[in-house]
Amino acid sequence: MKAYEIEEFGIDKLRIVERPNPKPADKEVLVSLRATSLNYRDFMVVSGSYNPRMKVPAIPFSDAAGEIAAVGEGVTKWKAGDRVMPIFAQRWYEGDSSEEKRRTSLGAGAQWDGVLCEFAVFDQESVVRIPDHLSFEEAATLPCAALTAWNALFVSGKLKPGDAVLTLGTGGVSIFALQFAKMAGATVFSTSGSEEKIGRLKDLGSDGTANYREREDWDRAAIEFCGEGVDHVVEVGGAGTLPKSINATRIAGHVAMIGALTGAAGFNPVTAFMKAIRLQGIFVGSKRMFEEMNKAITANTLRPVIDSVFEFDQARDALKHMESGSHFGKIVVKIG
Ligand SMILES: NC(=O)c1ccc[n+]([C@@H]2O[C@H](COP(=O)([O-])OP(=O)(O)OC[C@H]3O[C@@H](n4cnc5c(N)ncnc54)[C@H](OP(=O)(O)O)[C@@H]3O)[C@@H](O)[C@H]2O)c1
Repeated sequence: MKAYEIEEFGIDKLRIVERPNPKPADKEVLVSLRATSLNYRDFMVVSGSYNPRMKVPAIPFSDAAGEIAAVGEGVTKWKAGDRVMPIFAQRWYEGDSSEEKRRTSLGAGAQWDGVLCEFAVFDQESVVRIPDHLSFEEAATLPCAALTAWNALFVSGKLKPGDAVLTLGTGGVSIFALQFAKMAGATVFSTSGSEEKIGRLKDLGSDGTANYREREDWDRAAIEFCGEGVDHVVEVGGAGTLPKSINATRIAGHVAMIGALTGAAGFNPVTAFMKAIRLQGIFVGSKRMFEEMNKAITANTLRPVIDSVFEFDQARDALKHMESGSHFGKIVVKIG
């Protein structure tokens, strides 16, 4: 089969190799992968900033969708032809995460090779069914970005209809957060650095917006929009945005700390404790959360927002497109 391998870090060093087709062992399924989607983590993994000591050669990318091609002995849950997505952390089925479970995340080293390849085997418990209304391209966007937004809003945030949510920028996690929050009857204030993207945020239902390049005090804009401050922030920015995200939050509100797009330096804790804000780190989510999210996606026939679809041999271009930051929503690579 064809697979992309990282042998040296750098987008241009990523190369297509031939690997033997994997075979499903006891209780494993062989999946013919049809599409994969990019997360910011994949860009960091390939460029070497995620873990410079990562074991290589390794297949990158964590998120995919495909069709079961064959099943191993003892597989009771699946048959050939079933449409599935591998879960992000292959052994995190339910409950809290742990160091051990986190280490089973796909696509960050040779031990748990990723999905930028034609076939992969997974334990029968480590895949979930694709909602019927979604294509492989759409389903490939769910395992990391969508689940992270779901966990932030509904598991950590316990979002209620009428709550106010602040989303930052227009990457994969933020666009899913906007869609889920609107689906649940919340009000959403969104930021972006681009006027054109702000127009698209409004089309998706953002109730209030600010261009963070033109309006540096976007935290104030969020407070002006919803009075006392927002109930939840989907914080993907990190050091450069966290102080303003905290300012924009109401007393006893919730900040889901997800990303570090602007860096990971320290911050002043005073406002956080004076406002009794709940800062909650989020790490993707469990299989149980993934299945609950898929029920909601199905019930609401929610469709992921796909920015662009690249062919398999254009995976490097897809990564460069992500690096440019010009995307809105998810970038997908077709397989096969
Ligand atoms: N903790 C977890 O489990 C988890 C899971 C998934 C992702 N993450 C992290 O979450 C972050 C987002 O991931 P992603 O995959 O959604 O990324 P992405 O798709 O690459 O999102 C990039 C977007 O972020 C926006 N952005 C960049 N700088 C910004 C700033 N200063 N202020 C506001 N927005 C800014 C830009 O939107 P505009 O062009 O509209 O300004 C840009 O297009 C990354 O740090 C990623 O590593 C963490």
